[in-house]
Amino acid sequence: MIQTHAPVHSVEEIASGIFRLSFRSREVASAALPGQFVNVKVNDSLFPLLRRPFSIFSVESEAVSIVFNVIGEGTRILVSKKPGDVVDVIGPLGNGFSVAMDSKNYKTALIVAGGLGIAPFPFLLSQIGKDKKVLSFTGARTSNQIVRLGMGHMHIATDDGSEGFAGNVVDLLEEHLSHHHYELPRIFCCGPARMLKRLSDFAQKKGIECYASLECAMACGVGLCQGCPVETINGKKKYVLVCKEGPVFETSTVFV
Ligand SMILES: Cc1cc2nc3c(=O)[nH]c(=O)nc-3n(C[C@H](O)[C@H](O)[C@H](O)COP(=O)(O)OP(=O)(O)OC[C@H]3O[C@@H](n4cnc5c(N)ncnc54)[C@H](O)[C@@H]3O)c2cc1C
Ligand code: FES
Repeated sequence: MIQTHAPVHSVEEIASGIFRLSFRSREVASAALPGQFVNVKVNDSLFPLLRRPFSIFSVESEAVSIVFNVIGEGTRILVSKKPGDVVDVIGPLGNGFSVAMDSKNYKTALIVAGGLGIAPFPFLLSQIGKDKKVLSFTGARTSNQIVRLGMGHMHIATDDGSEGFAGNVVDLLEEHLSHHHYELPRIFCCGPARMLKRLSDFAQKKGIECYASLECAMACGVGLCQGCPVETINGKKKYVLVCKEGPVFETSTVFV
């Protein structure tokens, strides 16, 4: 885990209302794994006090980027950053998708993203083994909110039917898998809690392994405050911490 004052390289709008902030840190870039996150102190005043967690979206040489939409004070400050400003970053944090990526027990990666749940996947796609077949499914409210950067070909679902499948991304995946068969599939997913719950149930019904990156409110981000528990299913411990033991979990092991 590294704490660094990293210079901002750029802030750009990559889809309607969705921004990518890149900062330079050789240390974070070289240690990062897909699915890990960084905890960002958005400015050096006391407000907002808490760091904000963001998935690592991409790593290119020394440049690390995150994506976000403006929902509160923290992201409002982040979007106003200019090249050369400094952000205080702790990371990379959490386990990432490495447990799910490394295993030889799958041949097809089914990547499923809802909204800004796309955030960890460009980095994952850049690192996933060339021996795997990869299919990506993404859902958004409307076409211009789809993040396409770094994703290659995607099967798209939009709530308003403005592009691709009209409906949600879980229905799209189910529909697709009812017509196509893939060898040893494994689901990698991130998005709203309701979507992850549906995917978890679907995967269990179909006997597909499913790894989800969970989101929850966090304070310390490093396992100290006990503020981010998730209940396990038949685990040795009743609760595990999303920031430390996650954010990626096999969905049959925790109540998503
Ligand atoms: C491991 C992890 C990775 C994340 N990765 C990303 C990412 O890549 N991109 C991204 O945009 N966001 C991501 N988030 C969520 C992100 O941390 C919050 O959106 C961010 O803290 C908002 O900060 P803010 O100050 O703008 O809003 P706040 O003022 O903190 O919150 C505004 C409103 O949003 C709600 N809220 C805040 N965080 C969450 C959350 N995690 N889930 C649901 N509601 C929330 C608050 O309750 C409040 O109502 C991630 C969260 C976690 C735990
Ligand atoms: S956020 Fe503090 S323990 Fe997870």
